[in-house]
Amino acid sequence: MADLVLRGGYLDGETVDLLIQGGQIAAIGPQLEAAGATEIDARGLLLSPPFIESHIHLDTTLTAGEPKWNESGTLFEGIETWAARKKSLSREDVMRRATTLLRWQAAQGVLHVRSHVDTTDPELTAVRALLEVREKMRDLVEVQLVAFPQEGILSFPKGAELLEEALRLGVDVVGGIPHYELTRDMGAQSVAISFQLAEKYSRPVDIHCDETDDPQSRFLEVVAAEAIRTGMGEMVTASHTTAMGSYDDAYAFKLMGFLRRARINFVANPLINITLQGRMDTYPKRRGLTRVKELWQNGLNVSLGYDDVMDPWYSLGTGNMLQPAHMAVHVAQMTGRAEVVACYDMVTTHAARTLGIADRYGLAVGRPADLVLLEAKDKWNAIRRLAPIRMVIRGGRVVAETTASRTTLLGEPIDLSAER
Ligand code: FE2
Repeated sequence: MADLVLRGGYLDGETVDLLIQGGQIAAIGPQLEAAGATEIDARGLLLSPPFIESHIHLDTTLTAGEPKWNESGTLFEGIETWAARKKSLSREDVMRRATTLLRWQAAQGVLHVRSHVDTTDPELTAVRALLEVREKMRDLVEVQLVAFPQEGILSFPKGAELLEEALRLGVDVVGGIPHYELTRDMGAQSVAISFQLAEKYSRPVDIHCDETDDPQSRFLEVVAAEAIRTGMGEMVTASHTTAMGSYDDAYAFKLMGFLRRARINFVANPLINITLQGRMDTYPKRRGLTRVKELWQNGLNVSLGYDDVMDPWYSLGTGNMLQPAHMAVHVAQMTGRAEVVACYDMVTTHAARTLGIADRYGLAVGRPADLVLLEAKDKWNAIRRLAPIRMVIRGGRVVAETTASRTTLLGEPIDLSAER
């Protein structure tokens, strides 16, 4: 007898049962005979692998308005505001806020999270706190930490040493921010340092790269060149790359060929970049997003992140990954049938590749029994309706449940699904 059986859920256009045994998926198929110690009625619900947050800042989350609101809405006022808030960081403060967001995420089916953590702090307070949170939350959410030098590797006193110290303490991934270094040369040099540290400590790389509307910001080519030189390819991620949305086509087309050779991953953060970028423009006003659709069409791995939830860069947010997927459909104009589905994959399977966990992720026999049940018949409708997430299962155990939503109009129940 199986530990748990889900009956009659939707998966890839079929209606299936899913058996869980020993924390793993034991069988998937229509009308399976085996009984389960617990049986769950999944009729009308989509079975999905868990959502993956591939780019968030858990150290800055839930600080919006402290010590002041970001009134200009720019990246730079965000960095200034954070520099002020950072002075009052404590272990308890960071742990409390990060844990709160991780619990929100888990309740909404996000079971893997890659979080950047600021290393430009002589005490590395947030680094130490998030390392503790990573261990404390391990049974519910798997967290990867990226050592992120918010104020620069070469432009902040002892920036390189602090970055390395974070890796020694156990941070999983090496970060960078070349476009915020004081000069172009320092930016290129900072990328080289990130890769040297990655090789020295055998860690992946995830760089905040060209998060600006400046079409001259060309550190992505430096990242690609380092990925090719080191052969690190799929262990390398370029986050944001918003300048690519402002590059002229002649350069962008040439670069695309190099990117295909480099085989690096991309993370776009559509909620944040549609609000942060384009702030220096009057009209026409740029969208400030990287070339999500074109990267995807060129066979490159693109995932989507939230980036910020209620912090100096973005005062809104919930952590629900359907929201960046929904925004990507609009901002990247990915409205074709396959394109909408691709945006769902960008917060699930594509993000698994970005995090390097694709070999132990997904709804297949033998994989961990981690899954999400949504009120939708397929991925397209899940995005269209920002579908309610009804149940979250982690390692074969139900960890979150949401009661079915029901709306009435003039006293009569009304069905708002109209799925097609
Ligand atoms: Fe970021």
